[in-house]
Amino acid sequence: MKTLLLVFHSPSQNTQAMRDAMALVVKQENLANLTIIVKSPFEANQDDVLGCDGIILGTTENLGYMSGALKDFFDRIYYPCLEVKQGLPVAAVVRAGHDGTGTCRALETILTGLRWRFVQEILVCKGPWQPEFIESCEQLAQALAIGLSEGIV
Ligand SMILES: Cc1cc2nc3c(=O)[nH]c(=O)nc-3n(C[C@H](O)[C@H](O)[C@H](O)COP(=O)(O)O)c2cc1C
Repeated sequence: MKTLLLVFHSPSQNTQAMRDAMALVVKQENLANLTIIVKSPFEANQDDVLGCDGIILGTTENLGYMSGALKDFFDRIYYPCLEVKQGLPVAAVVRAGHDGTGTCRALETILTGLRWRFVQEILVCKGPWQPEFIESCEQLAQALAIGLSEGIV
């Protein structure tokens, strides 16, 4: 059995819809050998990371950086997971009102430090809200879930 962990900071209706759509699309795939666990960064801890086979990170961009919540998650899990989770397949989505570059840079820096392995480019959902963001999130989640299930990521 494989576990996909979705850690998404969702302070708004739109980001909650993004998170929920990702979880739902993975559940609808009915992958017999994969479960998805959804947590906010405030709830997620080192045991969640140690127990997962792949991770999707989601965050708003706030003040040119990832949310404080996601940063706090990294601060707590970094050293406990550093030696044992190298190579962990990761995908990430950033919801940014108008930019997103600072958050992408920060994620890349931290994930390089952790030696996690991006299996997709970071998805940046930028600018005024567009319903199409939901579909992009679904595709990202679906791809990682199927890749994990089939052992190809
Ligand atoms: C305190 C604060 C700081 C923000 N800083 C940025 C920023 O630096 N860059 C950016 O693109 N958006 C910024 N935003 C916009 C958020 O990214 C946006 O509100 C969030 O992604 C939720 O989007 P939504 O309206 O679609 O729910 C900021 C929002 C808040 C509340």
